[in-house]
Amino acid sequence: MRILEPEDRSGLLVGAFEHLTGARPTVLAHAPGRVNLMGEHTDYNAGLVLPVALPHRTRVAVRAREDGRVTVQSLQRDGGFAGTLADCGPGGPDGWTGYAAGVLWALARAGVPVPGLDLVVDSTVPVGAGLSSSAALECAVGAAVLGLLDRPVRGTDADLLIEAAVAAEREVVGAPTGGMDQSVAVHASAGHALLIDFADDTHRRVPLHLQERGLTLLVTDTRVSHALVDGGYGERRRDCEEAARLLRVPALRGATRTAVDGLQEERLRRRARHVVTEIDRVRESVAALAADDRQALARANADSHASMRDDFEISCPELDAAVDAAVGAGALGARMTGGGLGGSSVAWVRTDRVAEVAQAVDRRFEREEFAAPQHLVATPYGGAGWVRLDG
Ligand code: GLA
Repeated sequence: MRILEPEDRSGLLVGAFEHLTGARPTVLAHAPGRVNLMGEHTDYNAGLVLPVALPHRTRVAVRAREDGRVTVQSLQRDGGFAGTLADCGPGGPDGWTGYAAGVLWALARAGVPVPGLDLVVDSTVPVGAGLSSSAALECAVGAAVLGLLDRPVRGTDADLLIEAAVAAEREVVGAPTGGMDQSVAVHASAGHALLIDFADDTHRRVPLHLQERGLTLLVTDTRVSHALVDGGYGERRRDCEEAARLLRVPALRGATRTAVDGLQEERLRRRARHVVTEIDRVRESVAALAADDRQALARANADSHASMRDDFEISCPELDAAVDAAVGAGALGARMTGGGLGGSSVAWVRTDRVAEVAQAVDRRFEREEFAAPQHLVATPYGGAGWVRLDG
């Protein structure tokens, strides 16, 4: 059984920064990956979502430079970036450095005086696992810039950071994200899920009481790689927009179930049905959590997974097996999470049964001859921040 621990490797990162750049970093910033508990593909339909931030995070060590140059390197990934701010932007660096450079560009565009800088990244958020390693990178880089300017990640600067992270992903990397990942990476708080309403961009904390209730959120990364820049996400998004246009509503949030059932084209009907029922399931989950109604929570999870598998068609055999095996081994509820087409599942498991459930998933994967999955425990953590190292 492989469990990915959320190690804090800040000391290692500071040492690596000195080795790579020849100087000590002045700021250490961080932002989390996330796992969404309910509300998939609802953010870009002006709907509701219920994510938590992971203890697994992306850390960035940074130091300003006098000469205006920008360097970006990673302890995990090859191919850094070296240039100036003028080289960052749409059509700017490819690959993973686009997320980092894109945020610098978007912050500068928003009027933030982004200095030249050296930046080194270290992350424990698995890449391609549907756990928002990209938003963690964007928000950690943005928080690092705010740290250099002595601006806390709060109030209007928190909003500015989210907007810059979303702009980097949409305009520089070319992935049409809906904004959930960046919002939770910034606004999350420990012990809570974040209920975000994309109709009016408001959010509130939802206490999970995991410890008191003896529950653990077990995430299983199926190792089937998921990438938002691939076509599947954009196609779903276009289907939703087309359904909203036919129903004459600005976004599917405004559509009723009856109206959706009347859509002529079968595929659009199924896509829209997922969205409107999934938004209801977010409300049901919040109510179930408040009342500690485990049956209602289990039902919402089962319905959500079925809806993503059958109506939205974003599951895959590995995700179906992970969910089925977890529930079969006693999980209260489980569903795939994130953008889908690979990635991770999340299960609500009694804390004393975590090992048993994880082992049952492993055995199922072995029997089906899938690659071995990786698990992690999603203890809900707080959002992005920074600390100064030189004062
Ligand atoms: C990805 C996107 C989010 C959201 C989810 C699906 O993570 O970045 O905006 O749409 O998929 O819920």
